[in-house]
Amino acid sequence: MNILVTGGTGYIGSHTCVELINAGHDVVIFDNLSNSKESVLDRIEKIAGKRPKFYVADMRDLDSIRKVFSENSIDAVVHFAGLKAVGESVAKPVEYYKNNVGGTLNLLTAMTEFGVKKIVFSSSATVYGDPAIIPITEDCPLGTTTNPYGETKKMLERILTDFQKANPDNYVILLRYFNPIGAHESGLIGDEPNGIPNNLMPYILQVVVGKLPYLRVFGNDYDTPDGTGVRDYIHVVDLAKGHVAAMKKFSDEPGVYIYNLGTGIGYSVLDIVHAFEKANNINIPYQIVERRPGDIATNYSDPSKAFRELSWKTEFDLETMCKDSYRFAKNALSGQ
Ligand code: NAD
Ligand code: UFG
Repeated sequence: MNILVTGGTGYIGSHTCVELINAGHDVVIFDNLSNSKESVLDRIEKIAGKRPKFYVADMRDLDSIRKVFSENSIDAVVHFAGLKAVGESVAKPVEYYKNNVGGTLNLLTAMTEFGVKKIVFSSSATVYGDPAIIPITEDCPLGTTTNPYGETKKMLERILTDFQKANPDNYVILLRYFNPIGAHESGLIGDEPNGIPNNLMPYILQVVVGKLPYLRVFGNDYDTPDGTGVRDYIHVVDLAKGHVAAMKKFSDEPGVYIYNLGTGIGYSVLDIVHAFEKANNINIPYQIVERRPGDIATNYSDPSKAFRELSWKTEFDLETMCKDSYRFAKNALSGQ
C-alpha cells in the first residue's frame, strides 16, 4: 500500500515508517518539523534502505494537505502529527485544540475529498483517565482527562468514530499507546524532545549524559509496591510493529477498531531507574520530590485483544528498552 504518515519524522512516526517499509509498503511523510528534524529521513533511509517521499506541510493548512493527496495515490493514512506536551497544553490550550483537533478535521476533509477511506490514529492510554479497571481493557470506560492534550485525544476518538458512522465504508483504527520508550537498535532514531523533558525516560537520558544533575522522582507515597508510579513501558519498535499489524483490519469489514498497545506489565519509576542502571552499568542520581499534579498511581494495559485479533504482542523486554534508549542517547544527545 501507499501510506501517508503524518508526523512521520517524529519519534513514533519514524520508527513506524521503518517498519512499514520493512513490510513492503511505500511511505509518504508529511510533517511541519515543529518537533522533529528533516535529517531523520536520512536515518530512515539508512535503516530501511528506502527514502520516504517527504513534504514539509502543516495540517492546519488544508491546501497543503490537499497538495499531498493530489500528488500521490494514497491508500491509507497513519496519523501521528500532533502536539503532545501535557504541561504545555495546560498553558496553551487554544494552540493544542487548533493543532490536534483542527489539524485532524482538515485531514479528514482532505481524505473525504480524495476518497481515502482508511486511517490509523495515535490515541493514548490517557483517555482512560484514572482507570476504572487494572489491567486496562479496551472496554474500560473512558475517564476524566486532566489536561487539554488528553482531551484532544478523547475528542479525536469521538470525532473519528462519528466520522466512520457517517461514512460506513471507512476504516478507523484507534490505537491507545501506553508509555513508549527505547529506540531503534541502530541508535540512529529515537526520542529527542525539545527543552527539558517531561517524560521519565528522556529525563533519565539527560541525567546520564550529564545535561541534568539528577532525576526527580515524583512521589513515593502512591498505593503501589514501592510507592512510586507504575506504568506500562513499551519498546517503540514493538509499538511501531503494532501499527503494521493493525493494518490487517483493512482487509476485514469496515468499522471502528480499538486496541491497547502495551506489554501488560507495570513497572514503577524505581524499577525503571534500577533496570537502566543494571542494563547500562551506570548510576542514576535521583531525589524523591512531591507528586506531580495530575499523575495517577497505576496504569497498565491488558493487551490481549491485539494479540487475539492482530496476532501482535510485544517482543522486547525492559533491559532491551534501557539499552536501546541509552545507545541512542549516547549517539544523539551527548554531542549537542
Ligand atoms: P513527536 O512530537 O516526536 O512526533 C509528532 C510529529 O508531529 C512531530 O514530528 C511534529 O513535528 C509533527 N507535527 C506536530 N504538529 C503538526 C502539524 N500541525 N502539522 C504537521 N506535523 C505536525 O511525538 P511522538 O511521541 O512520536 O507522538 C506521535 C503521536 O503519538 C502523537 O499524536 C502523540 O500524541 C501520540 N502519543 C504519544 C505518546 C508518547 O508517549 N510519545 C503516548 C501516547 C500517544
Ligand atoms: N516521572 C518522574 N520523574 C520525571 C518524569 C516522570 O518520577 O521526571 C514519573 C511520573 O510521575 C510517572 C512515570 O514517571 O509515574 C511516567 O511519567 P511520564 O511523564 O513518562 O508518563 P505518563 O504516564 O505521565 O504520561 C505518558 C505521556 C502521556 C500519555 C501517557 C499514556 O506523557 O502523553 O503516557 O499512558 F498519555
